[in-house]
Amino acid sequence: MSNRVGPDESVEVNSNTTRLRRLYAQFQTQKLLWIVFLVICIDVVISVVTITVLMNKTEREKISIMNITTPTSTSSSIPSSTTTSSSSTTTTTSEQLIPSGIINKNTKWKKNAITVAGGHEAGSELNQLNEPWGIHVDNDDHSIYIADRNNHRIVRWEFGAKNGTLVAGGNGPGNEMDQLTQPTDVVLDKEKKYLIICDYKNRRVMKWSLQNSQDCQVLIPSIYCFGLAMDSNGDLYISDWTEGKVTRWQQGYNEGILVAGGNGEGNQLNQLNEPKYIFVDKDHSLYIVDDMNNRVMKWNKNANEGSLVAPGQVSNENLDTMVRSKGVIVDHEGNIYVSSDGSHQITRWSPGAIEGTPVIGEKQSGSEPTQLQDPHDLSLDQQGNLYVVDRNNHRIQKFAIDRD
Ligand SMILES: *[C@@H]1O[C@H](CO)[C@@H](O)[C@H](O)[C@H]1NC(C)=O
Ligand SMILES: *[C@@H]1O[C@H](CO)[C@@H](O)[C@H](O)[C@H]1NC(C)=O
Repeated sequence: MSNRVGPDESVEVNSNTTRLRRLYAQFQTQKLLWIVFLVICIDVVISVVTITVLMNKTEREKISIMNITTPTSTSSSIPSSTTTSSSSTTTTTSEQLIPSGIINKNTKWKKNAITVAGGHEAGSELNQLNEPWGIHVDNDDHSIYIADRNNHRIVRWEFGAKNGTLVAGGNGPGNEMDQLTQPTDVVLDKEKKYLIICDYKNRRVMKWSLQNSQDCQVLIPSIYCFGLAMDSNGDLYISDWTEGKVTRWQQGYNEGILVAGGNGEGNQLNQLNEPKYIFVDKDHSLYIVDDMNNRVMKWNKNANEGSLVAPGQVSNENLDTMVRSKGVIVDHEGNIYVSSDGSHQITRWSPGAIEGTPVIGEKQSGSEPTQLQDPHDLSLDQQGNLYVVDRNNHRIQKFAIDRD
């Protein structure tokens, strides 16, 4: 620019040098101004475009919280990193999505439950269950995925449905690709296209398409899985009950990273003894029912040992302590809710509590709407309703939150 302008103006030098100098100086100043102006313009345009794109992205992710890309090997690394920032605003997978403020240490639930699945004795019809163990409640449509253990299948009950539909297994016990043997837990993957199933007796984790029941594969072989959980990044956590540990698997599922236990069976703070169901909170802290130690442990992210969040002093005189706990869920305040097939109740343990408070069920087991029999896995929905797998009543009970 200055190359072209210089000679043009030099013509005028002859007529009026002072004027030219002034003009030239003026131009130099203006050029600078123009450049600054252009730079600002470009910046503004870039910012506007970026903000619009980001807002659209956030909007889309708000609408469909979990459906992102399929975890194929090629795309897995990209979505997991790009979604990290956005997922912190859109919170986490369904069971973890308990809005703050809805539940606290004083929350009560209605004493009488509504049976939302099963409840017609043990059996293999589609309106029946046979010892369900694990559940996953999809918060978008309130459908419930049930690990129907003794039917060797996963069934899905839509909200208000009288019957379930078969979504995985159901071909008798066995280790063929289309079979499950005593599944204990199920979760939906991040984009809700696949079920991830703990195929307990076959010692494997299966991935089963919801669109095409023929599309099933072994996700992780040779693992004594019991409980499954997923964090906001879509990382999968698996409790391994024989080895006393919990591992975390990033999308791609090639390598399990030890995140809790793994120091042999025992009752030290860095050990677990037959861990059962697990829960991951928004900070990716892990809560583990440490069954044989009669305690619930919390392992913060990257911790080398856990801390006791529900005590393990069990005696026959004090039935309020935990006995053979199975399921755990945690609210926003850090109160934990534990199911116990020793006491047929769900108890709440607030942070620092030395005693659990029964919130659901009665001391006596039974099949009344207020009673439970060997409760297992738990789930909470967005409204704060509590779902309990009422294992030996072969039903899933929904306890509505009591706002009165
Ligand atoms: C996201 O999932 C919901 C149901 O869970 C579905 O209705 C919607 O079409 C999905 N969106 C995309 C973009 O896949
Ligand atoms: C539900 O399942 C039962 C038992 O299999 C069957 O008799 C009934 O017709 C089914 N109902 C519906 C609405 O599908």
